[in-house]
Amino acid sequence: MSQKMNVLFVISEAEPLIKVGGLGDVGGTLPLALKNLPESMTDPYVIDMKVVIPYHDQIKRNQWPVEPVVSFKVLSRNGFITANVFRALKTDLPIYLIDGEPIQNTGTYSSDTSIDTKKYAFFSIAALEFCRAIKWKPDLLHAHDWHTAVAIQKLSQIRSYDTFFSQTKSLYTIHNLPYSGGNHPEILYAFDIHQAFDPEIPQYMRNLPMALGLDAADHINTVSKTYAEEIMTDGFGNGYQNYLRSHSGKVSGIINGIMMEQWNPSAEKVLYKNYSVDTLSDRIENKRMLQQELWLPIKDQTVLFVMVGRMTYQKGFDLCVQALRQMRDLDWQIIILGTGEDSIQKTCLSLSNEFPDRVRTELRYDEPLSRRLYAGGDILLMPSRYEPCGIAQMISMLYGCIPVACATGGLKDTIKDPFDYPDEYTGFLFSHPDVSAAEWAMRRSIEYFQDQDNWRQIQVRAMKQDFSWEKSAKKYFDLYKSIQSSK
Ligand code: GLC
Repeated sequence: MSQKMNVLFVISEAEPLIKVGGLGDVGGTLPLALKNLPESMTDPYVIDMKVVIPYHDQIKRNQWPVEPVVSFKVLSRNGFITANVFRALKTDLPIYLIDGEPIQNTGTYSSDTSIDTKKYAFFSIAALEFCRAIKWKPDLLHAHDWHTAVAIQKLSQIRSYDTFFSQTKSLYTIHNLPYSGGNHPEILYAFDIHQAFDPEIPQYMRNLPMALGLDAADHINTVSKTYAEEIMTDGFGNGYQNYLRSHSGKVSGIINGIMMEQWNPSAEKVLYKNYSVDTLSDRIENKRMLQQELWLPIKDQTVLFVMVGRMTYQKGFDLCVQALRQMRDLDWQIIILGTGEDSIQKTCLSLSNEFPDRVRTELRYDEPLSRRLYAGGDILLMPSRYEPCGIAQMISMLYGCIPVACATGGLKDTIKDPFDYPDEYTGFLFSHPDVSAAEWAMRRSIEYFQDQDNWRQIQVRAMKQDFSWEKSAKKYFDLYKSIQSSK
């Protein structure tokens, strides 16, 4: 006999409706992967998944078609606030959008933390109340990052007396620990949210949304095994390390997957030439055309580095920029694509000015170009100072663009270095996020690149990997089950 498992999946982004970063990939793809798990894997359960996100202005501007579902009121000390819930049409999954005054006229994320705290506190509480409004009791609340942490805290406050939620358990997934949310006790007070009380959480952090989520969750997980270990250390714990260490029994890691069919160099229209492991020799066309597109000298033998992503301190672009300056003796080119912090954009632009015949910096978000970089670049640089999971390294390997990355978080868990895997390596890792370590790994990768026959073997191994969601979705399902059955 099948049994329903109701999962309320609350997150701030979900593609294809809204995606600012990797969180949006997970918001759109993990629930789908869970839904698509074969029945034999979830037996005797059938997962009923509802994804809830804010009805961001950006989604309204894009005019994604929606239909109204329900309206209700959320209680605050300053009076009731109306929540209107819509359902997105044309999606493979039920995705619900919550609207209300604190959500309207805001960017997806704001630089004003009081606007964001209010927006996401309201959203988190409304997501719970939405279940009551449609009379759908969740067995599990699965919330992500600081934006939805208030839902975890609210649930733990009310479930002892609120019979509707008395059986609901919670899972809190950390995608990026340093982003803790703002310190606004007055906003938490307005929504009757208590502060975190665990003595292992430093006093001054107890009103941060991230702290509430960690403290109140039945289980915590993060998006790779290595990151789950790292956050218990002083270097990566951001003040939560003592708490996490003393609650290590409720902390685990599951690597993200990707939708393999969305990343397929043999089928994509935006590439100059499609190719696969069997037609790898066609790949070079993409490199030549890419060099031409960006006005770089067209040279097959010159190693073409690419660096793609948000320009934040986390991503460490500055490390490779400096390393390249120290590698002017070698023959290389680089294309950098992304936007972000001003100082990092300037750092990248200055490299273009110093090496006008070798460096291109494109300051924009451009997904088609990013795909051409993975298809035409020889080596992806990913010098992240920390990386909970990361997605670019997986995509680039599937395209035969070999990663050079810092051995942290999900990078360490998805890339095999020759030192540890002499016969199976798929990329190059360096152990510390500093310039000389990055330089050493980049020099090493160029050396390997000189041996083109061997390089093709590396590409074949990288491209043949399976990064699909199924294995990880199964692990999430098993985790859901164990949380649900715990006392
Ligand atoms: C955050 C992390 C990134 C991870 C993504 C999805 O953006 O920085 O490493 O891949 O979340 O989990």
